[in-house]
Amino acid sequence: MSDWREAARLDQLSEDAPHAANVDGRAIGLYLLDGEVRAIGDLCPHMKSVLLSQGYLEDGTIECPMHQSQFEIRTGRCLGPPADEDVPVYPVKVEDGLVLVDLG
Ligand code: FES
Repeated sequence: MSDWREAARLDQLSEDAPHAANVDGRAIGLYLLDGEVRAIGDLCPHMKSVLLSQGYLEDGTIECPMHQSQFEIRTGRCLGPPADEDVPVYPVKVEDGLVLVDLG
């Protein structure tokens, strides 16, 4: 079942930097990649208190600021240790300049 929630305004997002959103208590990182908005779980699975959106963004991946595990933004896939779990990917749509994510 869909559960679309407002996460940000589109004009808050930039190709150059992640945007940390708190959506109904859930930490979600928003990314603008090649003009498309992507949303992934923002808590690093290695230590669930670290926000990936505070990390280093490069070529469609985000690197955890704590121990440098990398995650593919389009798929949420963990690309290397010490983290060993993927992060969730959330469906996204943009309506009237608002970014909505499906917490489903
Ligand atoms: S907290 Fe992210 S890799 Fe350790």
